[in-house]
Amino acid sequence: MEQYDVEALRREYPILERKVWEKPMIYLDNAATSQTPRCVVEAVDHMYFTQKANVHRGVHCMSQEATASMEAARECARRFVGADSTDEIIFTRGTTEALNLVASSYCRLLQPGDEIVLTVMEHHSNIVPWQMAAERLGLVIKAAPIHSDGSLDLEAFKALFSPRTRLASVCHVSNVLGTVNPIREIADFVHSHGAVMCVDGAQAVSHLKVDVKALGADFYAFSSHKMYGPAGVGILYGRRELLQAMPPYQGGGEMIGHVSFSGTTWAELPYKFEAGTPDFVDASAFAKAVNYMEGIGVDRIAAHEEELLRYATEQMLTIDGLTIYGTAPGKSAVISFLLRGAHHYDTGVLLDRMGIEVRTGHHCAQPLMEVLGIEGTVRASFALYNTRQEVDAFIAALRRIAAMLC
Ligand code: ALA
Repeated sequence: MEQYDVEALRREYPILERKVWEKPMIYLDNAATSQTPRCVVEAVDHMYFTQKANVHRGVHCMSQEATASMEAARECARRFVGADSTDEIIFTRGTTEALNLVASSYCRLLQPGDEIVLTVMEHHSNIVPWQMAAERLGLVIKAAPIHSDGSLDLEAFKALFSPRTRLASVCHVSNVLGTVNPIREIADFVHSHGAVMCVDGAQAVSHLKVDVKALGADFYAFSSHKMYGPAGVGILYGRRELLQAMPPYQGGGEMIGHVSFSGTTWAELPYKFEAGTPDFVDASAFAKAVNYMEGIGVDRIAAHEEELLRYATEQMLTIDGLTIYGTAPGKSAVISFLLRGAHHYDTGVLLDRMGIEVRTGHHCAQPLMEVLGIEGTVRASFALYNTRQEVDAFIAALRRIAAMLC
C-alpha cells in the first residue's frame, strides 16, 4: 500500500500555509471544524461558475444539471453510510438541524409521559432539541452517567429504561472526551425495549467507517464541515418506515404533494423533509469531500490520527500538573486537558499567540462539565493533515505556558 504522505496531503490545503500572529499556524481545532482541500473548494467554485440554478424546479438545462449534481451527492451520502435507499438521506444545514428535525418530528408521534434516554456526555445539540420537544409534549428526559475514564456507564444507561422509553439518542464519539460509544451494543439493547436509536455522528464520520445498518442506528446525523467538506450542509439518515410515519419538520416549497386552502399533502421521501431551496452547491461539494476521504482511506486517516493521539498523549503526560479528561480505551483523536492553576481561556489565548489554534471552554457540553466538576477545558483535536512536528511544537508551547502560568 502507498505510504501515508502527510506533506503531499498538506499541499492541498493552502490555508495551512498561513500565519497567525506572524507565527506559522498549527491548526488543532478540527473537532470544531476541519479544513477543506482544494478539490472541494474547486467543486464549490465550479458550481457557482457553471451550474448555479435552483434544483428540482426547472425544466431548463442548468436546473437539471444542478439537480443531477445534488442527487448524485445524495447517492454518495447513501453509499457512505450504507443506507438502503436515497429516500433515507435528508439534507439539512448540519448535525444540529438534523437532530432538531428528529426531536421535533419524531417526538410528535409520542404520548405525554413517554421517555427519552440521553447521556451526560452529549453536545447541547443532542440535549436541547429533546428538552424543547419534552416541554411541548410532556415527555420525560433521562441522562445516563459516565465512568471516570469518560466511557459510558452502560449498566446505568440500561437501568434508565422503563416500559415508557421510546427513544435513546447518544453520540457516536464525544466531542470533549473522545470516547467512542459502543453503538451496536447500545442499539441492540434499545431495540430489545422496542425503542428507537438515534446517533449524533458529528464527531465520528471523519474518523470511523460508519455503516448505519451494522451499527443498528435508526437515525444518524452528521455534518459536512467536520469531514473536509463545506459548511452549511448536514445529513440525516433515517430508517424509511420511521421517516414515512413522521410529520414534516418545516413547511414550504418542495415538501408538498399538493397545496390548497382545503388541505395540503406532503411530497414523497426524502423531499417531505426538505422545505425551501436547499444548499445545493455545498451539498454537491460535500460529495467531493466524501470521495476525497475515501480516496485516502478512512482507515488510513484513522491510523494516522491515532498515532498522533498516542504520541501527543504520551508527551503531554510528562508535563507536571497537566490533567487529561477522557482516557477511555479506543478513544478518538481529541484531547481535552487543563494545566493546574491555569484557566483554560488563558492557556488557549497563549497557545493562539504562539500560532496554535485550539478550542477552549465548555465545548457546548455544560452538563458534562458539571459532572467533571470544571468550567471548561482546552481541547486539541487532530485531522488527516496534522504532523508529528506540529505535536512537538504544541508540547513545547504547553511547557512554556506551564512555566508562565503554573
Ligand atoms: N461541535 C463542535 C465542537 O465540538 C463545534 O467544537
